[in-house]
Amino acid sequence: MKVWTIANQKGGVGKTTTVASLAGVLAAKGKRVLMIDTDPHASLGYYLGIDSEEIPGSLYDVFLAHQQLSRDLVRQHTVPTAVEGIDLLPATMALATIDRSLGHQEGMGLVLRNLLQLVAEDYDVALVDCPPVLGVLMVNALAASDHIVVPVQTEFLAIKGLDRMIKTMELMGRSKKVRYSFSVVPTMYDRRTKASSAALQHLSQVYGDTLWPDVIPVDTKFRDASLAHLPASHYAPQSRGVKAYERLLDYLNNGEFAHVKIG
Ligand SMILES: Nc1ncnc2c1ncn2[C@@H]1O[C@H](COP(=O)(O)OP(=O)(O)OP(=O)(O)O)[C@@H](O)[C@H]1O
Ligand SMILES: [Mg+2]
Repeated sequence: MKVWTIANQKGGVGKTTTVASLAGVLAAKGKRVLMIDTDPHASLGYYLGIDSEEIPGSLYDVFLAHQQLSRDLVRQHTVPTAVEGIDLLPATMALATIDRSLGHQEGMGLVLRNLLQLVAEDYDVALVDCPPVLGVLMVNALAASDHIVVPVQTEFLAIKGLDRMIKTMELMGRSKKVRYSFSVVPTMYDRRTKASSAALQHLSQVYGDTLWPDVIPVDTKFRDASLAHLPASHYAPQSRGVKAYERLLDYLNNGEFAHVKIG
């Protein structure tokens, strides 16, 4: 199982849409996908029509039981979605309290990695959605990842936020003596606007090799798909947006992305 984490401290850049869309294109190819929602707002579950306040357990309960993790425990808290091949380990509001209640305990940064190892045989890919804040959940999400996808909206304010995310990954990686491997993925690209093309040019100058050399276009089908509670691949399979996520998937599948040990 590969673990791809979708993270950016900037809000509204397309993280949740990227998780749902990559899950959709993977499932359409017959892959088994586990989505993990680490955002207390639980937008990913709502996106897929699952109200996580109404289901018996969530990622929160798994974190609480971090000293007695088992495959059964993880399976018990995982729910199927309406799309064949995609399961969800859902979030609840209670996750927002984890920093305060568990953040200080030893080993709390590796809970997600440990629990994903228990279900590694059950899925081809795990996709981790992150909240737009740095905390113990994002620390877990980064530490669990084989590769990090950093969606960035192609406009200048979002690019400023990106610097912060890259610094966070560098600092956290240094403390763990790894260099996280990541790809910057331009989203909501509007080729008719100067702002989008200027932003893209800036990204390619600053991020060079770590920039995915392509874009996710702005496409109203994404919003329509979320209203229909379906990944865009299962709502508008021929849309430009879905084609772009198919290309991103090829790129991620072909990449030689490994944690690089440093120091
Ligand atoms: N390529 C796109 N084209 C058009 N709209 C998009 C695109 N990607 C995302 N959106 C829309 O932008 C909004 C924000 O996207 P999304 O929820 O995926 O961002 P996020 O980074 O997960 O936000 P948050 O930080 O709040 O979790 C949503 O309404 C979504 O439908
Ligand atoms: Mg989100």
